[in-house]
Amino acid sequence: MIPDHTSIESLSKHVGETVTLRGWMYNKRSSKGLHFLVLRDGTGLCQCVVNEGEVDGDSWEAATEATQESSMELTGLIREDERQVGGVEMQVTAMSLFQKAEEYPITPKEHGVDFLMNHRHLWLRSRRQWAILRIRNRVIMSIHEFFQERGFLQMDAPILTGTAVEGTSTLFEMEYFGRSAYLTQSGQLHGEAMAMAFGKIYTFGPTFRAEKSKTRRHLTEFWMMEPEMAFYDLDATMQLTEEMLSRIVSDALRDCQTELEVLERDLEPLKRSIGDYPRVSYTEAVELLHSEKTATMVHEKIASNEQEKIDLEKEREEGKAAYGQAKKWQKRKIDAREIEIQVRLNEIEEELRNLPKWLESAQNFEWGTDFGGSDETLITWHYDRPIIVHRFPAVFKAFYMKRDPKDDTLALGMDVLAPEGYGEIVGGGERATDLAFLQEQVKAHGLPEEAFKWYFDLRRYGSVPHAGFGLGLERTVTWICGIHHLRETIPFARTLDRLYP
Ligand code: 4AD
Ligand code: MG
Repeated sequence: MIPDHTSIESLSKHVGETVTLRGWMYNKRSSKGLHFLVLRDGTGLCQCVVNEGEVDGDSWEAATEATQESSMELTGLIREDERQVGGVEMQVTAMSLFQKAEEYPITPKEHGVDFLMNHRHLWLRSRRQWAILRIRNRVIMSIHEFFQERGFLQMDAPILTGTAVEGTSTLFEMEYFGRSAYLTQSGQLHGEAMAMAFGKIYTFGPTFRAEKSKTRRHLTEFWMMEPEMAFYDLDATMQLTEEMLSRIVSDALRDCQTELEVLERDLEPLKRSIGDYPRVSYTEAVELLHSEKTATMVHEKIASNEQEKIDLEKEREEGKAAYGQAKKWQKRKIDAREIEIQVRLNEIEEELRNLPKWLESAQNFEWGTDFGGSDETLITWHYDRPIIVHRFPAVFKAFYMKRDPKDDTLALGMDVLAPEGYGEIVGGGERATDLAFLQEQVKAHGLPEEAFKWYFDLRRYGSVPHAGFGLGLERTVTWICGIHHLRETIPFARTLDRLYP
Protein backbone atom coordinates (compact mmCIF):
# COMPACT_ATOMS: atom_id res chain seq x y z
CA MET A 1 0.00 0.00 0.00
CA ILE A 2 1.25 3.48 -0.77
CA PRO A 3 2.01 5.22 2.56
CA ASP A 4 -0.34 8.09 3.31
CA HIS A 5 1.66 10.10 5.86
CA THR A 6 1.80 13.85 5.31
CA SER A 7 4.80 15.59 3.73
CA ILE A 8 6.41 18.47 5.60
CA GLU A 9 6.20 20.59 2.46
CA SER A 10 2.38 20.47 2.63
CA LEU A 11 2.00 21.26 6.34
CA SER A 12 0.83 24.83 5.90
CA LYS A 13 -2.39 23.32 4.50
CA HIS A 14 -2.87 21.22 7.64
CA VAL A 15 -2.81 23.84 10.37
CA GLY A 16 -5.18 22.77 13.15
CA GLU A 17 -5.21 19.13 12.02
CA THR A 18 -3.61 16.06 13.52
CA VAL A 19 -1.30 14.40 10.99
CA THR A 20 1.45 11.80 10.80
CA LEU A 21 4.97 12.58 9.60
CA ARG A 22 7.75 10.15 8.74
CA GLY A 23 11.40 10.97 8.36
CA TRP A 24 14.78 11.34 10.00
CA MET A 25 15.92 13.38 12.95
CA TYR A 26 17.91 16.35 11.79
CA ASN A 27 18.52 17.95 15.15
CA LYS A 28 17.40 17.83 18.78
CA ARG A 29 17.33 20.22 21.72
CA SER A 30 16.15 19.05 25.10
CA SER A 31 15.23 20.58 28.41
CA LYS A 32 13.44 19.19 31.43
CA GLY A 33 10.29 17.37 30.28
CA LEU A 34 10.64 18.61 26.69
CA HIS A 35 12.32 17.52 23.47
CA PHE A 36 12.41 19.73 20.40
CA LEU A 37 13.06 17.42 17.46
CA VAL A 38 13.70 18.84 14.02
CA LEU A 39 12.40 16.28 11.54
CA ARG A 40 13.63 16.02 7.97
CA ASP A 41 11.58 14.13 5.38
CA GLY A 42 13.20 15.19 2.11
CA THR A 43 10.60 17.86 1.40
CA GLY A 44 11.53 20.16 4.27
CA LEU A 45 12.19 20.55 7.99
CA CYS A 46 9.67 20.72 10.82
CA GLN A 47 10.13 21.28 14.52
CA CYS A 48 8.23 18.70 16.56
CA VAL A 49 7.67 19.37 20.25
CA VAL A 50 7.45 16.37 22.57
CA ASN A 51 6.12 17.19 26.02
CA GLU A 52 6.57 14.45 28.63
CA GLY A 53 3.20 15.20 30.17
CA GLU A 54 1.36 14.86 26.85
CA VAL A 55 2.66 11.58 25.42
CA ASP A 56 2.72 7.98 26.63
CA GLY A 57 5.82 6.42 28.14
CA ASP A 58 6.94 4.66 24.93
CA SER A 59 6.74 7.88 22.92
CA TRP A 60 8.69 9.78 25.54
CA GLU A 61 11.36 7.09 25.58
CA ALA A 62 11.61 7.14 21.77
CA ALA A 63 12.11 10.92 21.81
CA THR A 64 14.72 10.64 24.55
CA GLU A 65 16.61 7.89 22.74
CA ALA A 66 16.48 9.47 19.28
CA THR A 67 19.88 10.33 17.83
CA GLN A 68 20.79 12.38 14.78
CA GLU A 69 19.43 10.64 11.64
CA SER A 70 17.31 8.16 13.61
CA SER A 71 14.27 7.30 11.51
CA MET A 72 10.85 7.84 13.05
CA GLU A 73 7.13 8.37 12.78
CA LEU A 74 5.41 11.18 14.64
CA THR A 75 1.75 12.03 15.04
CA GLY A 76 0.56 15.33 16.35
CA LEU A 77 -1.28 18.60 15.96
CA ILE A 78 0.03 21.18 13.48
CA ARG A 79 0.18 24.71 14.80
CA GLU A 80 1.11 27.91 13.10
CA ASP A 81 4.39 29.36 14.40
CA GLU A 82 6.04 32.01 12.33
CA ARG A 83 9.38 31.65 14.10
CA GLN A 84 9.83 28.05 12.93
CA VAL A 85 11.17 26.76 9.61
CA GLY A 86 8.21 26.35 7.33
CA GLY A 87 6.08 28.55 9.60
CA VAL A 88 4.53 25.62 11.51
CA GLU A 89 5.40 23.17 14.25
CA MET A 90 3.98 19.89 15.50
CA GLN A 91 2.75 19.28 19.02
CA VAL A 92 3.48 15.57 19.20
CA THR A 93 0.91 13.17 20.64
CA ALA A 94 2.67 9.90 19.75
CA MET A 95 5.93 8.83 18.21
CA SER A 96 7.98 5.73 17.52
CA LEU A 97 11.35 4.92 15.99
CA PHE A 98 11.93 2.85 12.86
CA GLN A 99 15.58 2.67 13.79
CA LYS A 100 17.85 4.34 16.27
CA ALA A 101 20.82 5.56 14.24
CA GLU A 102 24.41 4.85 15.21
CA GLU A 103 26.60 7.86 15.90
CA TYR A 104 26.35 9.89 12.72
CA PRO A 105 29.69 10.67 11.08
CA ILE A 106 28.65 14.08 9.69
CA THR A 107 28.30 16.58 12.52
CA PRO A 108 28.17 20.38 12.44
CA LYS A 109 31.91 20.31 13.04
CA GLU A 110 32.72 18.67 9.76
CA HIS A 111 35.92 17.85 8.04
CA GLY A 112 37.06 18.84 4.56
CA VAL A 113 35.32 18.33 1.24
CA ASP A 114 37.17 15.05 0.75
CA PHE A 115 35.63 13.64 3.89
CA LEU A 116 32.22 14.81 2.74
CA MET A 117 32.67 13.39 -0.76
CA ASN A 118 33.70 10.05 0.78
CA HIS A 119 30.44 10.19 2.73
CA ARG A 120 28.42 11.43 -0.21
CA HIS A 121 25.76 8.74 0.38
CA LEU A 122 25.06 10.48 3.71
CA TRP A 123 26.07 14.02 2.79
CA LEU A 124 23.10 14.04 0.39
CA ARG A 125 20.89 14.44 3.48
CA SER A 126 22.30 17.84 4.38
CA ARG A 127 20.40 21.06 3.89
CA ARG A 128 22.82 22.44 1.33
CA GLN A 129 22.66 19.31 -0.81
CA TRP A 130 18.90 19.33 -0.46
CA ALA A 131 18.87 22.82 -1.96
CA ILE A 132 21.30 22.10 -4.79
CA LEU A 133 19.73 18.85 -5.95
CA ARG A 134 16.23 20.24 -5.83
CA ILE A 135 17.40 23.07 -8.08
CA ARG A 136 18.87 20.43 -10.40
CA ASN A 137 15.45 18.79 -10.55
CA ARG A 138 13.79 22.14 -11.34
CA VAL A 139 16.30 22.82 -14.13
CA ILE A 140 15.65 19.40 -15.68
CA MET A 141 11.90 19.96 -15.59
CA SER A 142 12.25 23.46 -17.09
CA ILE A 143 14.25 22.05 -19.97
CA HIS A 144 11.66 19.39 -20.72
CA GLU A 145 8.79 21.87 -20.44
CA PHE A 146 10.52 24.44 -22.63
CA PHE A 147 11.22 22.01 -25.46
CA GLN A 148 7.98 20.06 -25.22
CA GLU A 149 5.98 23.30 -25.41
CA ARG A 150 7.85 24.15 -28.61
CA GLY A 151 7.11 20.85 -30.33
CA PHE A 152 10.51 19.21 -29.82
CA LEU A 153 10.56 15.43 -29.40
CA GLN A 154 12.71 13.95 -26.66
CA MET A 155 14.77 11.14 -28.17
CA ASP A 156 17.56 9.04 -26.78
CA ALA A 157 20.98 8.68 -28.33
CA PRO A 158 22.96 5.51 -27.62
CA ILE A 159 25.50 5.46 -24.80
CA LEU A 160 27.61 2.70 -26.36
CA THR A 161 29.03 3.98 -29.62
CA GLY A 162 31.61 3.15 -32.23
CA THR A 163 32.56 6.76 -33.01
CA ALA A 164 34.26 9.74 -31.45
CA VAL A 165 32.22 12.94 -31.62
CA GLU A 166 34.27 15.55 -29.81
CA GLY A 167 37.77 14.24 -30.61
CA THR A 168 39.62 11.12 -29.61
CA SER A 169 41.63 12.39 -26.62
CA THR A 170 38.86 12.00 -24.05
CA LEU A 171 37.29 8.71 -25.12
CA PHE A 172 36.52 5.96 -22.63
CA GLU A 173 37.29 2.83 -24.59
CA MET A 174 35.99 -0.60 -23.73
CA GLU A 175 36.07 -4.09 -25.07
CA TYR A 176 32.84 -4.94 -26.87
CA PHE A 177 32.55 -8.59 -27.89
CA GLY A 178 36.00 -8.62 -29.39
CA ARG A 179 36.12 -5.10 -30.75
CA SER A 180 36.37 -1.56 -29.43
CA ALA A 181 33.44 0.52 -28.28
CA TYR A 182 33.31 3.89 -26.59
CA LEU A 183 31.09 5.55 -24.04
CA THR A 184 29.43 8.45 -25.79
CA GLN A 185 30.93 11.94 -25.55
CA SER A 186 27.85 13.57 -27.04
CA GLY A 187 24.59 12.43 -28.58
CA GLN A 188 24.90 15.00 -31.35
CA LEU A 189 25.59 12.83 -34.39
CA HIS A 190 22.67 10.56 -33.61
CA GLY A 191 20.68 13.67 -32.76
CA GLU A 192 21.28 14.94 -36.28
CA ALA A 193 19.88 11.69 -37.71
CA MET A 194 16.81 12.01 -35.47
CA ALA A 195 16.32 15.68 -36.47
CA MET A 196 16.28 14.66 -40.15
CA ALA A 197 13.52 12.21 -39.24
CA PHE A 198 11.48 14.31 -36.78
CA GLY A 199 12.43 17.96 -37.39
CA LYS A 200 13.15 19.18 -33.89
CA ILE A 201 14.45 16.82 -31.23
CA TYR A 202 16.43 16.90 -28.02
CA THR A 203 18.39 14.26 -26.22
CA PHE A 204 18.99 14.22 -22.49
CA GLY A 205 21.38 11.70 -21.13
CA PRO A 206 24.71 10.90 -19.54
CA THR A 207 27.89 11.63 -21.48
CA PHE A 208 31.40 10.55 -20.72
CA ARG A 209 34.78 12.16 -21.11
CA ALA A 210 38.07 10.80 -19.89
CA GLU A 211 39.07 14.19 -18.52
CA LYS A 212 42.42 13.88 -16.81
CA SER A 213 42.11 17.42 -15.48
CA LYS A 214 41.05 18.07 -11.90
CA THR A 215 39.17 21.32 -12.29
CA ARG A 216 36.02 22.56 -10.69
CA ARG A 217 34.32 22.35 -14.10
CA HIS A 218 35.05 18.79 -15.19
CA LEU A 219 33.37 15.50 -14.48
CA THR A 220 34.08 12.25 -16.32
CA GLU A 221 30.34 11.46 -16.35
CA PHE A 222 27.97 14.38 -16.80
CA TRP A 223 24.48 14.98 -18.13
CA MET A 224 23.96 16.84 -21.35
CA MET A 225 20.81 18.08 -23.04
CA GLU A 226 21.25 18.39 -26.79
CA PRO A 227 18.59 19.84 -29.08
CA GLU A 228 19.04 19.48 -32.83
CA MET A 229 16.89 21.43 -35.28
CA ALA A 230 16.41 21.02 -39.02
CA PHE A 231 16.37 24.36 -40.90
CA TYR A 232 17.91 26.37 -38.02
CA ASP A 233 20.97 28.50 -38.66
CA LEU A 234 23.48 29.87 -36.15
CA ASP A 235 21.42 32.98 -35.36
CA ALA A 236 18.23 31.02 -34.73
CA THR A 237 20.16 28.66 -32.49
CA MET A 238 21.61 31.51 -30.45
CA GLN A 239 18.11 32.89 -29.99
CA LEU A 240 16.74 29.52 -28.92
CA THR A 241 19.58 29.10 -26.41
CA GLU A 242 18.91 32.52 -24.93
CA GLU A 243 15.19 31.81 -24.59
CA MET A 244 15.85 28.41 -23.01
CA LEU A 245 18.33 29.76 -20.46
CA SER A 246 16.02 32.67 -19.61
CA ARG A 247 13.26 30.16 -18.96
CA ILE A 248 15.47 27.98 -16.75
CA VAL A 249 16.54 30.98 -14.68
CA SER A 250 13.08 32.48 -14.27
CA ASP A 251 11.58 29.11 -13.24
CA ALA A 252 14.33 28.65 -10.65
CA LEU A 253 13.78 32.15 -9.26
CA ARG A 254 10.05 31.53 -9.00
CA ASP A 255 10.04 27.95 -7.70
CA CYS A 256 13.28 27.56 -5.75
CA GLN A 257 13.19 30.56 -3.43
CA THR A 258 13.87 28.54 -0.28
CA GLU A 259 16.65 26.57 -1.98
CA LEU A 260 18.37 29.72 -3.25
CA GLU A 261 18.05 31.25 0.22
CA VAL A 262 19.69 28.19 1.83
CA LEU A 263 22.57 28.65 -0.62
CA GLU A 264 22.67 32.40 0.08
CA ARG A 265 22.60 32.96 -3.66
CA ASP A 266 22.81 36.59 -4.78
CA LEU A 267 19.68 36.84 -6.92
CA GLU A 268 20.56 40.01 -8.82
CA PRO A 269 22.89 38.36 -11.38
CA LEU A 270 20.22 35.72 -11.99
CA LYS A 271 17.51 38.32 -12.51
CA ARG A 272 19.73 40.03 -15.08
CA SER A 273 20.14 36.69 -16.88
CA ILE A 274 16.56 36.72 -18.12
CA GLY A 275 16.31 38.38 -21.54
CA ASP A 276 18.80 39.28 -24.24
CA TYR A 277 22.38 38.04 -24.09
CA PRO A 278 25.16 40.01 -25.81
CA ARG A 279 26.67 38.34 -28.90
CA VAL A 280 30.46 38.56 -28.85
CA SER A 281 32.61 37.23 -31.67
CA TYR A 282 35.68 35.16 -30.78
CA THR A 283 37.86 37.93 -32.17
CA GLU A 284 36.18 40.52 -29.94
CA ALA A 285 36.61 38.21 -26.96
CA VAL A 286 40.33 37.96 -27.68
CA GLU A 287 40.52 41.75 -27.78
CA LEU A 288 38.88 41.83 -24.36
CA LEU A 289 41.55 39.49 -22.99
CA HIS A 290 44.25 41.83 -24.27
CA SER A 291 42.53 44.97 -22.99
CA GLU A 292 43.67 47.31 -20.23
CA LYS A 293 40.32 46.78 -18.58
CA THR A 294 41.04 43.09 -18.01
CA ALA A 295 44.31 43.97 -16.28
CA THR A 296 42.55 46.52 -14.09
CA MET A 297 39.82 44.05 -13.15
CA VAL A 298 42.37 41.40 -12.17
CA HIS A 299 44.25 43.88 -9.99
CA GLU A 300 41.02 44.99 -8.35
CA LYS A 301 40.10 41.39 -7.69
CA ILE A 302 43.45 40.71 -6.07
CA ALA A 303 42.97 43.73 -3.82
CA SER A 304 39.42 42.75 -2.84
CA ASN A 305 40.51 39.17 -2.13
CA GLU A 306 43.28 40.41 0.12
CA GLN A 307 40.83 42.59 2.01
CA GLU A 308 38.35 39.73 2.38
CA LYS A 309 41.15 37.52 3.69
CA ILE A 310 42.00 40.07 6.38
CA ASP A 311 38.33 40.40 7.37
CA LEU A 312 37.80 36.64 7.58
CA GLU A 313 40.94 36.09 9.62
CA LYS A 314 39.80 38.79 12.02
CA GLU A 315 36.37 37.15 12.33
CA ARG A 316 38.03 33.83 13.04
CA GLU A 317 40.16 35.33 15.80
CA GLU A 318 37.08 36.90 17.36
CA GLY A 319 35.37 33.50 17.28
CA LYS A 320 38.34 31.89 19.02
CA ALA A 321 38.42 34.61 21.66
CA ALA A 322 34.72 34.22 22.42
CA TYR A 323 34.83 30.40 22.47
CA GLY A 324 35.77 29.90 26.13
CA GLN A 325 32.79 31.85 27.44
CA ALA A 326 30.34 30.61 24.81
CA LYS A 327 27.29 28.46 25.52
CA LYS A 328 27.06 25.06 23.83
CA TRP A 329 24.84 26.26 20.98
CA GLN A 330 27.06 29.28 20.45
CA LYS A 331 30.10 27.00 20.25
CA ARG A 332 28.35 24.96 17.60
CA LYS A 333 27.66 28.12 15.66
CA ILE A 334 31.28 29.26 15.94
CA ASP A 335 32.46 25.80 14.82
CA ALA A 336 30.18 25.84 11.81
CA ARG A 337 31.27 29.34 10.85
CA GLU A 338 34.91 28.36 11.31
CA ILE A 339 34.46 25.71 8.65
CA GLU A 340 32.85 28.18 6.27
CA ILE A 341 35.66 30.65 6.87
CA GLN A 342 38.27 28.00 6.18
CA VAL A 343 36.57 26.93 2.95
CA ARG A 344 36.39 30.53 1.75
CA LEU A 345 40.00 31.22 2.80
CA ASN A 346 41.14 28.22 0.78
CA GLU A 347 39.26 29.53 -2.24
CA ILE A 348 40.82 32.95 -1.78
CA GLU A 349 44.32 31.49 -1.46
CA GLU A 350 43.76 29.53 -4.63
CA GLU A 351 42.54 32.63 -6.44
CA LEU A 352 45.41 34.75 -5.20
CA ARG A 353 47.83 32.14 -6.52
CA ASN A 354 45.97 31.93 -9.84
CA LEU A 355 45.08 35.51 -10.68
CA PRO A 356 48.56 36.69 -11.77
CA LYS A 357 48.90 33.57 -13.94
CA TRP A 358 45.47 34.14 -15.45
CA LEU A 359 46.36 37.70 -16.34
CA GLU A 360 49.63 36.67 -17.89
CA SER A 361 48.02 34.02 -20.06
CA ALA A 362 45.23 36.43 -21.06
CA GLN A 363 47.73 39.07 -22.12
CA ASN A 364 49.73 36.52 -24.12
CA PHE A 365 46.65 34.85 -25.60
CA GLU A 366 47.15 34.09 -29.29
CA TRP A 367 44.34 34.42 -31.81
CA GLY A 368 43.63 30.97 -33.23
CA THR A 369 43.89 29.02 -29.99
CA ASP A 370 41.08 27.85 -27.73
CA PHE A 371 40.11 29.64 -24.54
CA GLY A 372 41.12 28.01 -21.31
CA GLY A 373 38.92 28.07 -18.22
CA SER A 374 40.66 31.16 -16.87
CA ASP A 375 40.26 33.04 -20.17
CA GLU A 376 36.54 32.33 -20.09
CA THR A 377 36.36 33.54 -16.51
CA LEU A 378 38.07 36.82 -17.36
CA ILE A 379 35.88 37.36 -20.43
CA THR A 380 32.75 36.92 -18.32
CA TRP A 381 33.91 39.61 -15.90
CA HIS A 382 33.26 42.18 -18.61
CA TYR A 383 29.53 41.43 -18.60
CA ASP A 384 26.81 41.20 -15.97
CA ARG A 385 24.78 38.53 -17.75
CA PRO A 386 25.45 35.46 -19.94
CA ILE A 387 27.11 36.14 -23.27
CA ILE A 388 27.21 34.15 -26.48
CA VAL A 389 30.64 33.89 -28.06
CA HIS A 390 30.47 32.89 -31.72
CA ARG A 391 32.58 32.28 -34.84
CA PHE A 392 35.65 30.51 -33.55
CA PRO A 393 38.74 29.69 -35.59
CA ALA A 394 37.90 26.37 -37.24
CA VAL A 395 41.32 24.88 -36.45
CA PHE A 396 40.46 23.90 -32.89
CA LYS A 397 36.79 23.10 -33.41
CA ALA A 398 35.11 19.77 -34.12
CA PHE A 399 35.00 18.30 -37.63
CA TYR A 400 31.25 18.78 -38.06
CA MET A 401 31.15 22.59 -37.82
CA LYS A 402 29.95 24.63 -40.77
CA ARG A 403 32.38 27.29 -41.99
CA ASP A 404 31.46 30.97 -42.07
CA PRO A 405 30.70 31.81 -45.72
CA LYS A 406 32.24 35.25 -45.11
CA ASP A 407 35.50 33.87 -43.72
CA ASP A 408 36.46 30.26 -44.37
CA THR A 409 38.85 30.12 -41.39
CA LEU A 410 35.96 30.58 -38.96
CA ALA A 411 33.51 27.94 -37.75
CA LEU A 412 29.86 28.83 -37.14
CA GLY A 413 30.05 27.64 -33.55
CA MET A 414 28.82 29.32 -30.39
CA ASP A 415 29.43 28.96 -26.66
CA VAL A 416 27.38 30.47 -23.88
CA LEU A 417 29.56 31.79 -21.09
CA ALA A 418 27.78 32.22 -17.77
CA PRO A 419 28.53 35.38 -15.79
CA GLU A 420 30.35 35.74 -12.45
CA GLY A 421 33.29 33.74 -13.75
CA TYR A 422 31.38 30.51 -14.39
CA GLY A 423 32.30 30.24 -18.07
CA GLU A 424 31.05 27.80 -20.70
CA ILE A 425 27.76 26.10 -19.98
CA VAL A 426 26.58 25.56 -23.56
CA GLY A 427 28.45 24.69 -26.77
CA GLY A 428 26.98 24.26 -30.23
CA GLY A 429 26.44 25.79 -33.64
CA GLU A 430 25.51 25.20 -37.23
CA ARG A 431 26.50 21.90 -38.84
CA ALA A 432 28.32 21.41 -42.12
CA THR A 433 25.91 20.12 -44.78
CA ASP A 434 28.26 19.33 -47.64
CA LEU A 435 29.26 15.68 -48.06
CA ALA A 436 32.66 16.22 -49.67
CA PHE A 437 33.63 18.83 -47.07
CA LEU A 438 32.69 16.50 -44.20
CA GLN A 439 34.58 13.57 -45.68
CA GLU A 440 37.63 15.76 -45.96
CA GLN A 441 37.23 17.00 -42.36
CA VAL A 442 36.89 13.50 -40.93
CA LYS A 443 40.18 12.62 -42.64
CA ALA A 444 41.87 15.84 -41.52
CA HIS A 445 40.86 15.14 -37.91
CA GLY A 446 42.35 11.65 -38.08
CA LEU A 447 38.98 9.99 -37.52
CA PRO A 448 38.15 6.57 -39.04
CA GLU A 449 36.01 7.15 -42.15
CA GLU A 450 34.41 3.74 -41.82
CA ALA A 451 32.72 4.72 -38.54
CA PHE A 452 31.10 7.77 -40.14
CA LYS A 453 29.55 6.03 -43.14
CA TRP A 454 26.09 6.20 -41.64
CA TYR A 455 26.56 9.86 -40.71
CA PHE A 456 27.54 10.74 -44.28
CA ASP A 457 24.22 9.27 -45.44
CA LEU A 458 22.51 12.23 -43.73
CA ARG A 459 24.24 14.50 -46.28
CA ARG A 460 23.33 12.20 -49.18
CA TYR A 461 19.61 11.96 -48.62
CA GLY A 462 17.99 15.35 -48.21
CA SER A 463 20.75 17.34 -46.54
CA VAL A 464 19.40 20.59 -45.05
CA PRO A 465 20.79 23.46 -43.01
CA HIS A 466 20.60 22.46 -39.37
CA ALA A 467 22.05 23.32 -36.02
CA GLY A 468 22.00 22.42 -32.36
CA PHE A 469 23.78 22.70 -29.07
CA GLY A 470 24.66 20.87 -25.88
CA LEU A 471 23.87 22.22 -22.44
CA GLY A 472 25.99 20.82 -19.62
CA LEU A 473 23.49 20.22 -16.82
CA GLU A 474 25.95 20.26 -13.91
CA ARG A 475 27.67 23.43 -15.11
CA THR A 476 24.32 25.15 -15.48
CA VAL A 477 23.19 24.08 -12.02
CA THR A 478 26.53 25.18 -10.52
CA TRP A 479 25.97 28.64 -11.94
CA ILE A 480 22.34 28.92 -10.85
CA CYS A 481 23.25 27.76 -7.34
CA GLY A 482 26.21 30.15 -7.29
CA ILE A 483 28.50 27.47 -5.85
CA HIS A 484 32.20 26.95 -6.39
CA HIS A 485 32.53 23.38 -7.64
CA LEU A 486 30.30 21.31 -9.90
CA ARG A 487 30.81 18.06 -7.94
CA GLU A 488 27.92 18.96 -5.62
CA THR A 489 25.42 19.35 -8.46
CA ILE A 490 25.18 15.63 -9.32
CA PRO A 491 24.14 13.05 -6.71
CA PHE A 492 27.26 10.93 -7.19
CA ALA A 493 30.11 12.69 -8.95
CA ARG A 494 32.57 10.79 -11.10
CA THR A 495 35.97 12.41 -11.48
CA LEU A 496 39.55 11.35 -12.19
CA ASP A 497 40.01 10.08 -8.64
CA ARG A 498 36.47 9.20 -7.60
CA LEU A 499 34.39 6.10 -8.36
CA TYR A 500 32.89 5.70 -4.85
CA PRO A 501 30.42 5.92 -3.28
O1 4AD B 1 31.11 21.97 -25.88
P1 4AD B 1 30.86 20.50 -25.91
O2 4AD B 1 32.03 19.61 -25.96
O3 4AD B 1 29.89 20.28 -27.12
C1 4AD B 1 29.43 19.09 -27.61
O4 4AD B 1 29.62 18.01 -27.09
C2 4AD B 1 28.54 19.24 -28.79
N1 4AD B 1 28.55 17.98 -29.55
C3 4AD B 1 27.17 19.59 -28.32
C4 4AD B 1 26.18 19.79 -29.43
O5 4AD B 1 26.32 20.69 -30.22
N2 4AD B 1 25.16 18.96 -29.51
O6 4AD B 1 30.00 20.12 -24.62
C5 4AD B 1 28.76 20.76 -24.38
C6 4AD B 1 28.65 21.16 -22.94
C7 4AD B 1 29.71 22.17 -22.49
O7 4AD B 1 29.33 23.47 -22.84
C8 4AD B 1 29.71 21.96 -20.99
O8 4AD B 1 28.65 22.67 -20.40
C9 4AD B 1 29.44 20.48 -20.87
O9 4AD B 1 28.85 20.05 -22.07
N3 4AD B 1 30.67 19.73 -20.61
C10 4AD B 1 31.03 19.22 -19.41
N4 4AD B 1 30.43 19.28 -18.21
C11 4AD B 1 31.03 18.66 -17.18
N5 4AD B 1 32.20 17.98 -17.28
C12 4AD B 1 32.84 17.88 -18.47
N6 4AD B 1 33.95 17.20 -18.58
C13 4AD B 1 32.25 18.54 -19.60
N7 4AD B 1 32.59 18.65 -20.92
C14 4AD B 1 31.62 19.37 -21.49
MG1 MG C 1 32.69 23.30 -25.78
